[in-house]
Amino acid sequence: NKDIYILGIETSCDETATAIVKNGREIVSNVVSSQIKSHERFGGVVPEIASRHHVEQITIVLEETIQKSGLTWDDIDGIAVTEGPGLVGALLVGVSAAKALAFAKNKPLIGVHHIAGHIYANRLEEEFSFPLLALIVSGGHTELVLMKEHGQYELIGETRDDAAGEAFDKVARMLNLPYPGGPHIDKLAKVGEDTLEFPRAWLEEGSYDFSFSGLKSAVINKIHNAKQRGENLKKEDIAASFQNSVVEVLTEKTYRAALEFEVKQVIVAGGVAANQGLRTALMEKFAPTQIPLSIPPLSLCTDNAAMIAAAGMINYLKGKRSSLDLNANPSLPL
Ligand code: KG4
Ligand code: ZN
Repeated sequence: NKDIYILGIETSCDETATAIVKNGREIVSNVVSSQIKSHERFGGVVPEIASRHHVEQITIVLEETIQKSGLTWDDIDGIAVTEGPGLVGALLVGVSAAKALAFAKNKPLIGVHHIAGHIYANRLEEEFSFPLLALIVSGGHTELVLMKEHGQYELIGETRDDAAGEAFDKVARMLNLPYPGGPHIDKLAKVGEDTLEFPRAWLEEGSYDFSFSGLKSAVINKIHNAKQRGENLKKEDIAASFQNSVVEVLTEKTYRAALEFEVKQVIVAGGVAANQGLRTALMEKFAPTQIPLSIPPLSLCTDNAAMIAAAGMINYLKGKRSSLDLNANPSLPL
């Protein structure tokens, strides 16, 4: 029983990341080069800048990953890469690098869905129990995914407009907080009070879909109306009230889905999983149930390549390979 080493590559957004994972569960080396500084002053990720950074960084990050692992290319069993969804120009850098390596080093090429990666970040910490429910909340995603076995994903709910992280970032912008705004809202919410009334978008009875654009508009209106009255709302209270609205809907829908599908494990993934309010609310909600709740450590919540290698391991074991004409797909379905 030889150990299996998968090299993962992730360039779907603004992190250039590569990693090597052993047997799908053990991080051997994990390198992330973040571009946040370059996008900060634009208040969001600029696709052209992202692509250029990936091109500049990818070889450096790859070399560092191999060097830190103490392994050689001979030890690598497969190359897993995020093929989508994401920014097409950004994805293409990773996909091209992966194809070049697979061809040059004669290794199997494995295309991975970015969300599958976020889910499998959790398996670097803990083995999965099925059926499993995953809540994925990031800058581009808000999804509830049911898994009955490894590598099989059933989308049971998704956002109809803004992603949860996007809502955080937009509200942060209204409050003149730096990009990305999620962590800043989180910090302010800790000291603020939930005194402002904001809507909760439950949608139709039984729906596991989400909607955050109404909430975003409600925040804009509240700030605007207060200004007109010459009142000044406290940033901390806006943050706390907004965050509670998001957290309550995410927590309640995840809870209801977990009960309906009788899952054996609930996992949370994506950048917003770093949110302290969300972590606490979910832990409190699931504590009285017998359902274990797993939230990865912060470093594995945000984009990285260890999660891509971990998800790629499942495809590898199932014999799922991509051909050398693999293309980046910005709207790849799960
Ligand atoms: O998963 P991720 O790193 O990148 C995407 O694939 O989108 O998620 C980034 C998102 C951003 O919208 C950021 O504001 C949000 O995650 N985020 C947070 C927190 N930390 C990061 N949102 C709320 N609270 C946080 N502590
Ligand atoms: Zn992500």
